[in-house]
Amino acid sequence: MNADEAHWTKAAGAWIEWARRPGHDAFWAYRGRLAAFVGPGSGAALEVGCGEGRVSRLLQELGFRVTATEPVKALLAAAEEAGSAHDYRAAPADALPFEDASFDLVVAYNVLMDIVDVPAALREIRRVMRPSATLMISIVHPFADIGHFADDAAEAPFVITEPYFGRKAFAGTEARDGLEMPFFGWSQPLEAYAAALEAAGLAVTSLREPVPELRSDADPMARWTRLPLFLWLKARPLAR
Ligand SMILES: C[S@@+](CC[C@H](N)C(=O)[O-])C[C@H]1O[C@@H](n2cnc3c(N)ncnc32)[C@H](O)[C@@H]1O
Repeated sequence: MNADEAHWTKAAGAWIEWARRPGHDAFWAYRGRLAAFVGPGSGAALEVGCGEGRVSRLLQELGFRVTATEPVKALLAAAEEAGSAHDYRAAPADALPFEDASFDLVVAYNVLMDIVDVPAALREIRRVMRPSATLMISIVHPFADIGHFADDAAEAPFVITEPYFGRKAFAGTEARDGLEMPFFGWSQPLEAYAAALEAAGLAVTSLREPVPELRSDADPMARWTRLPLFLWLKARPLAR
């Protein structure tokens, strides 16, 4: 088992609670924009690293026929128990149990930062994409990863504390409203993702730096309307 799967196997219970509490983490402030960015469809969609299934459930709402994959069995079981998809397969992103050219849409939502070998995962994703398919990727914005807000004020300065270049492991625990979630993964510059996409034969067709939808003037997500927390991409297979 790779370091990524080992971490998520230990953290599965915490993630299910964290991700399932409505409005609890950043996902909910971006959900509407994600739905608009992906758009409705009726084709075959694959989610890699589905966790407990909230993105797969959104893809179903948008009309897709969804296959949810996830290497951590406890998370996949939670996704299935919540009726998140039409089909479920236990698999890491770099060994997908599907024929070539099986899907119209592949979604990797906040997963690539957690994966040991991103180029291998993108090559494998490219293999299962139909020639007309779209890959949608969300990552924590590489810039957001290398610093923090100096304090809790809405206008607090963002302080860069780490070098931007290079691939660095990160590990930390986020605590909010009585829940704790341990995170572990790798931070790397945008160029590393672009190089891995290019090597896999995938061309970027859209790029978004989404801003959160705020629920009130006191919404703690307001600071992320000043700087991007996430980076969203769409990519299409290049003809071989
Ligand atoms: C931050 S969670 C995101 C889950 C889900 N996509 C969401 O947005 O709610 C990251 C997920 O990536 C999964 N993961 C870790 N290593 C992976 C790998 N090698 N291949 C596919 N998924 C992996 C984890 O098990 C976890 O479910």
